[in-house]
Amino acid sequence: MHFEKEVGESLTYKFAQAAGEMRAQGREIISLGLGEPDFKTPDYVVEATIQALQNGFTHYSATQGWPELRKLIAEDCSRSYGADYTLNDVIVTPGIKSAVYFSLAAILEPNDEIILISPYYVSYPAMVKLAEPTAKIVSVTLNRDFTLDQDQLARAFSPRTKAILINTPNNPTGMVLSREEVELVVRLAAEYNSYIISDEVYEKLVYSACRHTSFGLYPEIRDRLIICNGYSKSHAMTGWRLGYAIGAHDVIAKMNKLQQHINTNTCTFVQVGACSIYKNEPVHIQPYVDELEKRISYFNSELNKLPYITAVRPKAGFFCFVDISAVGVDSNTFCADLLKKTGIASTPGIAFGPEWDDHVRFSIAVPMNTLQRAVGLLNNYRYGA
Ligand SMILES: Cc1ncc(COP(=O)(O)O)c(C=O)c1O
Repeated sequence: MHFEKEVGESLTYKFAQAAGEMRAQGREIISLGLGEPDFKTPDYVVEATIQALQNGFTHYSATQGWPELRKLIAEDCSRSYGADYTLNDVIVTPGIKSAVYFSLAAILEPNDEIILISPYYVSYPAMVKLAEPTAKIVSVTLNRDFTLDQDQLARAFSPRTKAILINTPNNPTGMVLSREEVELVVRLAAEYNSYIISDEVYEKLVYSACRHTSFGLYPEIRDRLIICNGYSKSHAMTGWRLGYAIGAHDVIAKMNKLQQHINTNTCTFVQVGACSIYKNEPVHIQPYVDELEKRISYFNSELNKLPYITAVRPKAGFFCFVDISAVGVDSNTFCADLLKKTGIASTPGIAFGPEWDDHVRFSIAVPMNTLQRAVGLLNNYRYGA
């Protein structure tokens, strides 16, 4: 593999790091770069994990994942999807990213085609190439209002399409595929016998006017479906490195072989502690989603008042992906200038696909008063002035 070409630096970290360095030099930074929930991991998870440590769950454990946790995940998904998953259909991984990567590595073979929807999560192309360097990425570009071009999607499928990797609710657009769009993907994947790798990390962060449709609801594709999910965003557990994949048994078995050789197992006491997630009501989630919706209403409408930004209103998650084509510079140049002049860290659109170099992503996972300060600065900002 041509490492330098295929595995570039993650642009989401590039500007976050630059912002960190400026902050260390005493500059006030408004960090709208990374998407990390701005609340604490629920106490019951912390307490159950401390207990697990004190009870000696500090050794190697089953490579596929702690059996009780896998059983709880299988039961929860079976209830949600009307399926009959068992613990053997689940693998627990160090973060959702690992679940996605292992799915790709288990599925892709030389010269396979894989469909990505652009804009895509920043790490997907590198993950595909690391999993199978000869794989061909077929990109389907969303319309400018982030709706799916259904004809383009249908044309992207071919007999060589091994898989489609799809993320709904979506980072960076905040869009949620409609039931009709999900069903189109299901129909095409079934027709071409392709796998669906569905990254549903934002499924619990959907605003009130919208509903998430999971690919798990469709029995006709269950033997070709891998759902990747976890607690990083819904339970503010980004630093715990915990995720899972559930789905097609043969793929999960291959992923387990990868895990045996690479991770051995996901941190044992973290998995034991995480069982508490299924034994407590997630009462923190709805108030947080309500708060995110309040922030997005405010931020999105303020952004649209600026002469240099056009912003589609997101339906879920942490991000506003905005059009800066009126500025007339590329997204890296814009983000660098914005950081230098205002101290606002953002992420260049090109990180999410070459077609999006006239977009910028802002995170709203910061308190309302931080967004208000950002809006004040954006009001006074002009590129080049
Ligand atoms: C679409 C998507 N998938 C996966 C991840 C990473 O999840 P984790 O931190 O659990 O690996 C993110 C985080 O930003 C994401 O946006």
